[in-house]
Amino acid sequence: MNLKISKYDPSVDSAAKLITVSVTYTDKMTVLEAIQFAHETTPIAFDYSCRGRACGRCAVMLDGKPVLACITPITNATHTIEPLTGQPVIRDLIVDKREAHNSITARYRRTRSTSMTDVEFNTTYDTNVIDQINAIEWCTRCTVCTAGCPAYKANPSTFVGPAEMLAIAYRFYDPYDEGNRVVDAVQAGLWNCIMCGQCDNLCPQKEIKRVTQIWKDLRAAATAAGYPNPNA
Ligand code: SF4
Ligand code: SF4
Ligand code: FES
Repeated sequence: MNLKISKYDPSVDSAAKLITVSVTYTDKMTVLEAIQFAHETTPIAFDYSCRGRACGRCAVMLDGKPVLACITPITNATHTIEPLTGQPVIRDLIVDKREAHNSITARYRRTRSTSMTDVEFNTTYDTNVIDQINAIEWCTRCTVCTAGCPAYKANPSTFVGPAEMLAIAYRFYDPYDEGNRVVDAVQAGLWNCIMCGQCDNLCPQKEIKRVTQIWKDLRAAATAAGYPNPNA
């Protein structure tokens, strides 16, 4: 099996280049294992930790599609492996996710003017709300969805992308959050999402179920609050 792997050191290279590394294919091999075998003969900078879709660190582009390398099978053919698109490359297959993660973390913060009261602490959430919030907590912030989002790719200045929008949705569902998450979502480009469903297809955390259903919930709330689709 031949792997065309992106090599790039921004401190010395003017552009990334693809190098071809031959790897012996084994049954049920994952993309991560293939990269590790390639690394034995050709040094490649790549990132991973958990090997089980829990850390989100191993995301790469496989033949142009964003995937988690540790859970994605590879076939016995020629493949191109590049860093995740849309974020600066630190080295080879490693991208700098700090800016994306900082933005996502800021969105996850709960806004409260007062501390939670005892009554609030002891009140059980509506089960639908619990289900929705628990599901979103499966997000590892791998940013695979954003790397494959056509609306984000077309214009990242008008749409924050699904990974960050999901963080807004998390607090939108939170009954004890006092932020105006509907306004946040609209300002973050809610109506610029084209509802293509790619984020649902690409997200490795199927526990989140239908990400596009979450967009529908936000859109319904935005319309009800007087922020209807300006593109309609
Ligand atoms: S449904 Fe929206 S957020 Fe998801 S990939 Fe498509 S444009 Fe992006
Ligand atoms: S929604 Fe899914 S694909 Fe997107 S960042 Fe979270 S875990 Fe990754
Ligand atoms: S190594 Fe953690 S998600 Fe792949």
